[in-house]
Amino acid sequence: MKRFSKFGEKLCGGSGIEELMDDLGHALAQGGDHMHMLGGGQPSMIPEVNTIFREALDGVMSSEGALEAMLGKYDPPRGNPRFIEALTVMFREQLDWDVKKENIAITSGGQTAFFFLFNALAGLHHDGTRKKIVLPLVPEYIGYANQSVGEDMFVAFPPKIEKIGDHQFKYRIDFDRLVIDEDVAAICVSRPTNPTGNVITDNEIAKLLAIAKSHDIPLIIDNAYGAPFPNIFFADAEPLWDSSMILTMSLSKVGLPGTRTGIVVAPPKIASAMASMNAIVGLANSNVGQVLTEPLIRSGKLMELSKHVVKPFYLAKSLRAQEWVKAYFPDDIPYRVHLSEGALFLWIWFEGLPISSKALYERLKQRNVLVVSGAYFFFGLDDTDWKHQHECIRMTYTMDAEIVESGVQIIADEIAAIYRNA
Ligand SMILES: Cc1ncc(COP(=O)(O)O)c(C=O)c1O
Repeated sequence: MKRFSKFGEKLCGGSGIEELMDDLGHALAQGGDHMHMLGGGQPSMIPEVNTIFREALDGVMSSEGALEAMLGKYDPPRGNPRFIEALTVMFREQLDWDVKKENIAITSGGQTAFFFLFNALAGLHHDGTRKKIVLPLVPEYIGYANQSVGEDMFVAFPPKIEKIGDHQFKYRIDFDRLVIDEDVAAICVSRPTNPTGNVITDNEIAKLLAIAKSHDIPLIIDNAYGAPFPNIFFADAEPLWDSSMILTMSLSKVGLPGTRTGIVVAPPKIASAMASMNAIVGLANSNVGQVLTEPLIRSGKLMELSKHVVKPFYLAKSLRAQEWVKAYFPDDIPYRVHLSEGALFLWIWFEGLPISSKALYERLKQRNVLVVSGAYFFFGLDDTDWKHQHECIRMTYTMDAEIVESGVQIIADEIAAIYRNA
């Protein structure tokens, strides 16, 4: 074979997300006790949650035919009908959303849902136009960045930065700069946002939805961390679905990333497009997460668990990590932590950082602390000179307390040395 196709060149030659997952995976495997793994999006092992999943699996093992159905049958391409039905009941009864089974499709994880959605909506159209996905606020989830099978598809807009006190900040959508023209196929945000922990406000969402409707394009909300599960959502804001919107969810962050279960709630045409793509790409999805959680969704247990165990667990972890940052970072260093309103990360901005965030990542790696350079999350931007994009890091706070605390101490030490020697 001489070379890959154009599609192959795009998807087979590595990517930011592959480097990141590979780096983190190997570090986890080899790092032993001395590696401070503050890099990936790995959810915590929460004992109460794992107990429930263990019991659910016991239930599958002991009920006649259930294990055989889980492991031995192909589901329809749209997803497991009983799982989809349980979801519609949950959406209608718990959230008062008018969701029907035609609105839902299951995918092999949220990541796959985005690959399908972006490529089905954006890229080359019949009339010769090349449609784009607008990210109204970057930094945004790195996993979107390399998903186009054709030309680059993202157009992104930098946010307004609201400084809060001496050491906090929040990004806000800069509606004065946001341009939606006829080449835009959809608007997309993650909420809560990976990497920042931002929750785009209800007001911002209402404005985006109005803009999307006025252009007859979908607003895609990536709800991987949101309500009703896993509910790693600390802000005073509401989850939302509207019949013109596309909402994606996942079982990953509630503790089942190994089952690869994504949920797309969308207009019927989009949901059935997901089913068609499932059939072509993989025939069907894995049944495991769907069969395991269907009774937990029906009984309301998964939502109760998310509300009363998962959310308080991560909120406490976030608050502790912020306390350590406050305790160990020298007060005279111009650092700011983004308001932690959800998701699994602290996003730290070092204003005027004398080296790039990639160089900072390398220096921290030398000291056995793995974070992620913030630069990865600023894609689709025109303005490559914007210094801010090289001044931030993402730090995951889901690991054991001692690891997070000593990781923060090392970051503080390194940062202090960098600013002092500048
Ligand atoms: C914002 C966001 N969306 C989607 C995903 C994809 O997750 P999964 O494919 O495990 O559902 C992730 C994973 O970290 C994420 O952070």
